[in-house]
Amino acid sequence: MREFYKIFSPQKNEGFNNIESNLVIHSSVIELSKNALKKNLQFLRKQIGSKTLFSSVIKGNAYGHGIEVFVPLAEECGVRHFSVFDASEGLRTLQSITRDSHIMIMGAIDNDELEWAIENGISFYTFDQDRLNAALIASKLTGKPARIHLELETGLNRMGLDDENLNDVMRIVENNSEHFRIEGVSTHYAGAESINNYLRIIEQIKRYNQMVEDLKKKGVSFGLRHTACSAAVFNYPETIMDMVRVGIAQYGFWPTKETLLHYSLSNESESGKRFVDPLKRVLKWKSHVINIKQVAPGDFIGYGTSYQAPRNQKIASVPVGYFHGFSRNLSNYGRVLIHGKRVPVIGLVNMNMMMINVTDVPNANIGDEVVIIGKQKKMQITVASFSDMTDNLNYEVLVSLQPDIPRVVVD
Ligand SMILES: Cc1ncc(COP(=O)(O)O)c(C=O)c1O
Repeated sequence: MREFYKIFSPQKNEGFNNIESNLVIHSSVIELSKNALKKNLQFLRKQIGSKTLFSSVIKGNAYGHGIEVFVPLAEECGVRHFSVFDASEGLRTLQSITRDSHIMIMGAIDNDELEWAIENGISFYTFDQDRLNAALIASKLTGKPARIHLELETGLNRMGLDDENLNDVMRIVENNSEHFRIEGVSTHYAGAESINNYLRIIEQIKRYNQMVEDLKKKGVSFGLRHTACSAAVFNYPETIMDMVRVGIAQYGFWPTKETLLHYSLSNESESGKRFVDPLKRVLKWKSHVINIKQVAPGDFIGYGTSYQAPRNQKIASVPVGYFHGFSRNLSNYGRVLIHGKRVPVIGLVNMNMMMINVTDVPNANIGDEVVIIGKQKKMQITVASFSDMTDNLNYEVLVSLQPDIPRVVVD
């Protein structure tokens, strides 16, 4: 049966205040499974131990899962710490939290936004003196301390503080101690998901530990040590410190096949049992058929001549295209599920639409559910198969999912 996704838009942006204007019909919907998220968080808790704080990384619109829906769901499942990239994601998270959760900005924040962050108790990474001086002024204005994380340069060579900069920064902090609270000391690894980077990561771990020791010797009290992303949690357990910052794994994806292989081999040999993937996909993306057509042998389907029907065929149109995050590279290549069967995408993927070949699904009809990512009956389309076909990473496919597609929670 045809299912309309008549849902209040999850976005709380300005201009969406009027409830009536939020009542829109969408061509597809993304379901978030509470059960899957709970299982992933339980599994990750086992990996990191009971004492380590879990920070849920929700940059990139919660890896495409949608900040506004994902954050309250994660809170329901026990998460109380969120890591975002910039101030705009920080604002969206602040508007979405339903508990006393903490927000940490790991990347971009403009000096003009610091007062807002400090006022709202949001912590942020510091990697230069300019941000620190601006934070000092903002702290004086608000009468509250700036909650900062020192990002240490250990080898990624992106944003961290090297020894010299760290000394300069520490001088400002120590001279204005009532205006700063060092909440944490962090670093980020240069590719913990691949064995190719092994030596570089080991060097980074050593460098980080050395820099932390030096801070200790100087009597600096620095709160949480945090360095591990998903891959580091599995491949370098020594990086699990006072807090971890986990993104992709909480959503049910392995950072790379290599990380999965490493985990499964070490666990298979311990238990002797067949390996069952402990990570469950949180996201399912589905749409429906909006038109059915019969075509004759020799007919071209859609734009251009990339697909010519070799026989009488039944073609269904699905209102999802590259605008929504279904890559144009999947033209004549991708697969979707209908009536529990895997069927091919034929012709070019359009901006808002794709055509699928349902010749072998005789009962396919207008309104029938089409699963683009996720399970239908016994079949499944994973993001991995999607990304294998397009040469994209899991990460890239997920964050390409159009933010306006409604996200809804299911059990
Ligand atoms: C600084 C930082 N920490 C943690 C993460 C989380 O990484 P992952 O999604 O691989 O767990 C990221 C994501 O790239 C990041 O940039």
